[in-house]
Amino acid sequence: MNPVALPILITIDGPAASGKGTLARNLGAMYQLQWLDSGLIYRALAFELAEHSWGSLTAHEQYALLSRLKEPSVLDNPRLRLDAAAAHASRIAQDASLRQSLLPLQREMAYHPPPPLRGTIMDGRDIGTVVLPEAPYKIYLTADPTARAKRRNKELQKRGTSATLTSVLADIEQRDHNDRERTTAPLTKAENSIVIDSSQLSIQQMTQQACQKLQQKGLLKPRQR
Ligand code: CDP
Repeated sequence: MNPVALPILITIDGPAASGKGTLARNLGAMYQLQWLDSGLIYRALAFELAEHSWGSLTAHEQYALLSRLKEPSVLDNPRLRLDAAAAHASRIAQDASLRQSLLPLQREMAYHPPPPLRGTIMDGRDIGTVVLPEAPYKIYLTADPTARAKRRNKELQKRGTSATLTSVLADIEQRDHNDRERTTAPLTKAENSIVIDSSQLSIQQMTQQACQKLQQKGLLKPRQR
């Protein structure tokens, strides 16, 4: 990468199980971008904060904890994928001071994609609004709650976790409520976002729609340059 060139930044925000991770992975591969899953960072923090609240840690302990989040092994923990981790993440994510402390780390990771990657695609709830408001390409991906619950339930069944559609839907609705109603960095659509409703779309259709709209905004695929 040219040392003065800014990395390409794409943000994807939206509610739980709307397809953000799948879309980010696909677009990341097509446009040669690193994928940063900010939800995973919150899940990992929630895991580390099983016994202590963020506010009860000293500044030094908070710093040490944030530094550990840069270690790939911390984010690779399969237990972070469990719904219990997501529910805990959604509770700790309401802490304004914790969110504020995470900002420099998230921005640093986004601005330093490992070469030869050309930039970063980062997904979450507040990426286009708070973490990377300057990003030129923003997507808001949504889907109706039942479609999202069905997808999440399928995913859980594949992993051998037993859950009912009713309990998965209740969990998603609770997290939607937490994420939309919190006072700091609530889930909202950033201005100038590309909006995609994936309720009735296959993965391929969702990815195609996103690509088309990104290209309309001027993003070119590497081979077209
Ligand atoms: O994969 P899913 O969409 O179900 O959840 P996730 O992206 O892994 O996020 C887990 C939880 O972390 C969310 O319900 C949010 O409460 C919180 N989160 C957040 O507050 N801000 C972000 N940028 C990302 C996640």
